[in-house]
Amino acid sequence: MNWTRKKLIKKYLEFFKSKSHKEIPNVSLVPENDPTVLFNTAGMQQLVPFLLGQPHPLGKKLVNNQKCIRTKDIEEVGDTTHHTFFEMLGNWSLGDYFKKGAIEMSFEFLTKNLKIPKERLAVTCFKGNRNSPRDEESAKIWISLGIIKERIVFLPKEDNFWGPAGQTGPCGPSTEIFYWKLKDVPAPKEFDSDDENWVEIWNDVLMEYVKENKGNYNLSKQKNVDTGMGVERTIAILNGLEDDYLTETFKPIIEKIEKLSGKKYSENKKAMRIIADHIKAAVFIIADSVSPSNAEQGYVLRRLIRRLIRYGRELGIQNFTSKIAEPVFSIYDDYSELQKNKKQILQELEKEEENFNLTLEKGLSKFNKISRNKKEISGEEAFLLYQSYGFPLEMTIELAKEKNIKVDEKEFEKEFKKHQKLSRTASVGKFKSGLADSSEGTTKLHTATHLLLAALKKVLKNDSIIQKGSNITPERLRLDFSFSRKLTKEELKKVEDLVNVQIQKSCKVVREEMSLEQAKKKGAIGIFDEKYNGRVSVYSVEDFSKEICAGPHIQNTKELGKFKIKKESSSSAGVRRIKGILI
Ligand code: ALA
Repeated sequence: MNWTRKKLIKKYLEFFKSKSHKEIPNVSLVPENDPTVLFNTAGMQQLVPFLLGQPHPLGKKLVNNQKCIRTKDIEEVGDTTHHTFFEMLGNWSLGDYFKKGAIEMSFEFLTKNLKIPKERLAVTCFKGNRNSPRDEESAKIWISLGIIKERIVFLPKEDNFWGPAGQTGPCGPSTEIFYWKLKDVPAPKEFDSDDENWVEIWNDVLMEYVKENKGNYNLSKQKNVDTGMGVERTIAILNGLEDDYLTETFKPIIEKIEKLSGKKYSENKKAMRIIADHIKAAVFIIADSVSPSNAEQGYVLRRLIRRLIRYGRELGIQNFTSKIAEPVFSIYDDYSELQKNKKQILQELEKEEENFNLTLEKGLSKFNKISRNKKEISGEEAFLLYQSYGFPLEMTIELAKEKNIKVDEKEFEKEFKKHQKLSRTASVGKFKSGLADSSEGTTKLHTATHLLLAALKKVLKNDSIIQKGSNITPERLRLDFSFSRKLTKEELKKVEDLVNVQIQKSCKVVREEMSLEQAKKKGAIGIFDEKYNGRVSVYSVEDFSKEICAGPHIQNTKELGKFKIKKESSSSAGVRRIKGILI
């Protein structure tokens, strides 16, 4: 039977819906209001406030298919199963079912719906450490379902404890499901998790803990389940393929690269896999309104594009990015953001390629000169390659590795800071993921942002002002809103004062759940998309502010202390930006 990605996704969603799960949306790769991560790296990212105890408008059992970007494993891209962009199927229990429910449903879906013989499955469970005991309970559940004990291994924290993705947040032991992928070789009786023919296809995380700031693990208020199944890997095994790049999610891109280069995939696997993987990631990132730049998401994008261009050189191809991007639009014709922005996506790719072409050749010859007869490239030299030839540090490291030489990364960073005076920049080394931030500081600033928006509408006597963007860190808020001119000093003072009056009045912050229709009728502002199938959370501060929002928020405005506007500036045409703090 030919398994397509669409069919697998549909089956998965239907299965969990039949078990009373509600579908949540496949959200943007760039998380909303979450400065601690650059991209969604897992389906759970949008659920952090709800995993921490806030009630979700759609209830306690959720399911979705989520596009993800994970650049942590970038060095492994090039093998058969690692990707920077992938789709993750996930089901969640927010304080509802736990180990038994999660494991039984995973097993039922795999063996009944996907018809995978249990003889080809194996699982890992958490071995235990001083914070959390050995997970005998999960192992017993697997045995009760017919997984023999030789196919269950207990592994330490590095393998079987998931999260938190950042410094703090929900986490817990996991039980991972592996599939024996060799078609013609029967699965060995004994499971060896180091044997690459056993492919991990699904991870059930049993989120019992919250890691706190000081590094201690506390039992969480509610026990959650967070699962993730890789779409690309699963359709590979369902179709009897031993290489994800041979599935419909990559094959058309590989074929295009073969055609353009006149070379065979079988002889150039690593380069072609990297190119195919990175172009797909780049297309999806641009579709979510990111452009190549030297900071944050834009820099990740730049690095992906430049890396794939360099691998293109190895295959002898140039000016090819927009051509190999074409198949991505057909493979993922169900993503409207790709179809809508196609022209602009291709233009961005071409522009970045043209830019890089100007310096790549010269940069490579400079690199060869620098690296000749050397054991180490200095930070200054690596910085020169970055500054004058647009070589991301990782590219220099990768090129150096091929010649068995090192790069002084520490000195590079020093140089970087010295030249750019960007000590707080996130563009170097920020290739990792984090976790949505629900710290006290951030929570307070979320509520302050609501007050600020309401105050702006009132002081500027302009009801059509809308939020155009928000970015909150534990230290400050940043609100972009529609307004056509600079605000006067007096107006800013009035806005600040009005927010502080609401704080001093000790108003309750009330959360209500309702349909989108009701929310609109009650005059709530916010983004009226159909995100939660029409169910939304509305946060009100007396008659002053009423907004649709996913939180998190404090309970009483008196917790905010005092609000201060630090800066007002232009953000883009017709959009102003205010930065504010609580003191
Ligand atoms: N969040 C878990 C993972 O990414 C399911 O593996």
